[in-house]
Amino acid sequence: MSQKNFYRRRALAARLTKLITQVAVGSAAASGVFLTAPRRTGKSTFAREDLRPALKEAGAIVLYADLWKDLTAEPGAVIAETLREAIGRDKELMSRLAIAPRQEAVRVGRVNFNVNKIGLGKEISLTKAFEALSDKAKKLIVLIIDETQHAITTDEGVATLFALKAARDELNRSQHYGLRIVCIGSNQNKLAMLRNSSDEAFFGASMLQLPMLEKDFIDWYCKALDLPNNLDPSDVFQLFQESGYRPEILSAAADGIRFDLTVGPKAILVRFTELVRAQAEALNADLKMVIHSLTPIQSAVICVMGAKGEGYAPFESSTMELYTKAITNAGIAPSEPRVEVPEVKLALMALQEKKLVWKTSRGVYTIEEQVIVDLLREDGLLDDLV
Ligand SMILES: Nc1ncnc2c1ncn2[C@@H]1O[C@H](COP(=O)(O)OP(=O)(O)OP(=O)(O)O)[C@@H](O)[C@H]1O
Ligand SMILES: [Mg+2]
Repeated sequence: MSQKNFYRRRALAARLTKLITQVAVGSAAASGVFLTAPRRTGKSTFAREDLRPALKEAGAIVLYADLWKDLTAEPGAVIAETLREAIGRDKELMSRLAIAPRQEAVRVGRVNFNVNKIGLGKEISLTKAFEALSDKAKKLIVLIIDETQHAITTDEGVATLFALKAARDELNRSQHYGLRIVCIGSNQNKLAMLRNSSDEAFFGASMLQLPMLEKDFIDWYCKALDLPNNLDPSDVFQLFQESGYRPEILSAAADGIRFDLTVGPKAILVRFTELVRAQAEALNADLKMVIHSLTPIQSAVICVMGAKGEGYAPFESSTMELYTKAITNAGIAPSEPRVEVPEVKLALMALQEKKLVWKTSRGVYTIEEQVIVDLLREDGLLDDLV
C-alpha cells in the first residue's frame, strides 16, 4: 500500500521517539517500553508507518519483528531472523563477509562473525550479534516486537526474551550505543506478565496505552472516502467511537454503500449508520455463539477466570467453590454439582482450543481478549463471582 493510504500520526510518533531514545536518569524506558491498544485499532500500522521512520530519523537503527507473521515459526527464530536481516542490510558489513571464504568467520568489532550462525543456542549469541551491529554502526538500536505476548507461549520464546534482556543490558553500558526494546500487544494482562515479576525479562518496563485514532483521522478519512455524497465527519466520528475506534468497520460500511447503487444521496448517513452498527455486531456475533455453546463446566471456568482477572488461580479450593457457584447460578446443573480438578483441566484445554483462553509456557491462564470479558459481563454471567 502506498503511504498516502495511511493517515500519519507524526506528533505521536515524535513524542514516543523522544521517550524511547532519550532515556532520562532513573527512567524505566531503558528496560523497555510496552505499547498496548485494543485489537484492530492501528497499533501495527502506527509502528510501521509512523514510529519506525521517526526513530530512523532520530538516528536509530530500527528492527521490526512481527511474531504473528508466521504462526508456525518459533517466536525466538523470528527475532533472530530479523537481526540477521538487519546485519545483511549493512552493505559494508556484508561485503566484508562476502570476501571472506565461505564458512570462515569474519571479525567485526569484538566478534568473530558468520551471519548464519546467529541465534539462540547457535555459535553467535544474540548479545554478540547485537554488539557487532551496534559497534559497527555506532548507533542506538531499537527493536520493535509486535505481538510480543506470543513469545511467552513457548519455552524458546521465553529464553529469547532473557537473551534479549542480556543483550539490552550489555548494549546499554557506556562502551556501546544502546538497545531499546519496544513491545506491542493488544492485551494488557498478557503484556503485564512479561514485566511484572522480577524474574521476568522486562521487569519495570513502562506500559503505555497507545491513544486511539482521533477526530483528525476521521476528517482525513471522510475526504479520502469519495462517496457520492459527503458524510459529515462529526457524524462519522460518533460512529467510529461507538464501534470501538476500528477503521475497518468504517471501510466495510463504506464499501457497502459504494456497491449499492440504490442508495440516494440523502439516505447515505442513515444507511452508513446501519451498516457500521451491523458490522460491529457481526464481529461479536461469532464470539457470542462460541460462548453460548460451551458446556456448563467450560462456561463456569471462563466466567470465574473473567471475574477474577489477574488473581485467577485455577485449582485453588476457593476457585473450585466458585466454579460450583457459577454452575448453580446459571441453573444448568443439579443444585450443588461437584467440580473436580481433572474436569477443570479438560475445560481449560477446550477453552484454549476454542481460542477463548490463553496460556503461557509457565501455565498461567488469562482470557484471550478483553471483549470476551465484556460480553460475559453484559450477559450478567460474572455477577457474584468474586
Ligand atoms: N493511520 C491509519 N491510516 C489508515 N488506516 C489505518 C491507520 N491505522 C490503522 N488503519 C487500518 O486499520 C486496520 C487495523 O490496523 P492494524 O492492523 O495496524 O491494527 P492492529 O491494532 O495492529 O491490529 P491487531 O490487533 O490485529 O494487531 C487496518 O486495516 C489498517 O489499514
Ligand atoms: Mg497488529
